This record gives sequence, structure tokens and C-alpha cells, in this order.
Amino acid sequence: MRSPASARRTTGARAAPAPWSGDLITVGVPKGRLLTESSILFEKAFGVSPRALLEGTRKLAADAPEAGLRFISIRAADVANYVEHGAADIGIAGLDVLREEPRDLYEPLDLGIGRCSVVMARPARGRPLGKGVAPRVATKYVGLTTRYFAAKGIPVEVIPLHGSIEVAPSLGLVDWIVDITETGETLRANGLLVEESVLEVSARLIVNRVALKLHAERIRKLISALRAASKPVPGRGDTDRR
Ligand code: PRP
Repeated sequence: MRSPASARRTTGARAAPAPWSGDLITVGVPKGRLLTESSILFEKAFGVSPRALLEGTRKLAADAPEAGLRFISIRAADVANYVEHGAADIGIAGLDVLREEPRDLYEPLDLGIGRCSVVMARPARGRPLGKGVAPRVATKYVGLTTRYFAAKGIPVEVIPLHGSIEVAPSLGLVDWIVDITETGETLRANGLLVEESVLEVSARLIVNRVALKLHAERIRKLISALRAASKPVPGRGDTDRR
């Protein structure tokens, strides 16, 4: 494991010039669906919004020195890699990404945002499966899917895809799919029924293990502030926090 971003900036004979100087905690913030909900949490906890700092610009990094934070805008699937390898000290990542393959990360907090499910789904009007033939399953979660069917003792052929997975059964590419769903709209629109939930997903705060040791006190306070910010307001439902 490499040393975390903040440590690398403060060691070595030559200090890097601004904007990379200073002892800011680097936060990997996911682009896309999770950005808005993550930004609400950071605004509540620290009074700074990564979305407001990053949106509408081509900048992929923005500093909030008043909060001691530097935000890096990263694809949701990549945040865990940035944090695990020390390019970001902390980050926000979905449980689907974290459970796809083993990772050496500290996961101190379920943030309660980005709720969705990884499901196994099949065509509502499917062809019967051939006897003795392993069903084909399309997914971007090759690790999760392989372990899921292995645990059930069902031999399958996993076909890795990166998107538009719901269309694969109707084109005859596969028999089943394993994919993420939030509202269920995409499954319905493509004539698919959920057979079973594979994983219930929410976003987690993740921390690089070296950063945790180097900045123990700051990261402990950061976790407490995000924990308080992610608590539901009494009398209000989950959706009210979005
Ligand atoms: C995911 C998933 C589905 C869609 C489901 O795609 O792969 O296509 O969301 O959402 P729904 O249940 O609310 O209809 P995403 O938008 O994350 O992009 P992707 O195609 O890159 O996976």
C-alpha cells in the first residue's frame, strides 16, 4: 500500500508548489448519482459542497482550505482504487464496488445515501433453459456474480459487460442478468423481472489505512461529523434527506 496523498505531499526534499501544498485531507468524491447526496452531507458536516466547487468547471480538484479538505472528482467505480492506493485519503464508494473484489480499506461508516440493489433478473417471457446447459449471465459485477452463483451451487457462464446490460437477454446474448437497480424502471422497460436480491447497496465512507494512522485525530473528527450529518432527521423519511 502506498502512503496517502497528504503524506506524500509533505515528505521529500522538494515540496510541491501550490495548489498541491498544504496539509489538506484529500477526499475522493464520486461523479454521477452520488455527487448530489455526498455534497449535501459535506455541506451539513463542514459547510462546503464539493458539487458547488466542482460543477460547471472542467476542474477535477478543488480545495476548501477553510474545512481542511481537497475534493477530487472521480468516477464512482474508481474511488476505492484512489483511496486504497493512497491517492486520496478518504472517499465515498458504493457497497457494490467495495464487495466486487477484496480491498484493503477501512470502512467506518454507512452514509445511508445512494441506496439501491444489485439484483439477479430474468426476462418476464423467457425461453426455457436447455437441459444441462449452464445459463449465461451478463453483468459488470463479475466477482459478485461468480461468488453468488457458486454459493448457490449453480454453474453459469458469466459474460462481462460495461453497460446497457438490460438489453442483453432480449438480443439472445444471455439468459439472466445481474445488475444494479434503483427505481426498477430500466428493468421494467426491458421486460425483465427481479428474481432475487444479490446485494443491498448504500454508500460507505472509506479511509486509506496509512492516512488513518497519520491523521488519526482529524479523521476521527471527520467521521464523527459525517456520522452526525448522515443521521436521519427525526420524523422525516430517507427521501427527505436527498
Ligand atoms: C444503472 C444500471 C441500470 C440503471 C438502473 O446504470 O446499470 O441501467 O442504473 O436504474 P433504475 O432501476 O432506476 O432504472 P447507471 O445509470 O449507473 O449507468 P451504467 O449504464 O453506466 O451502468
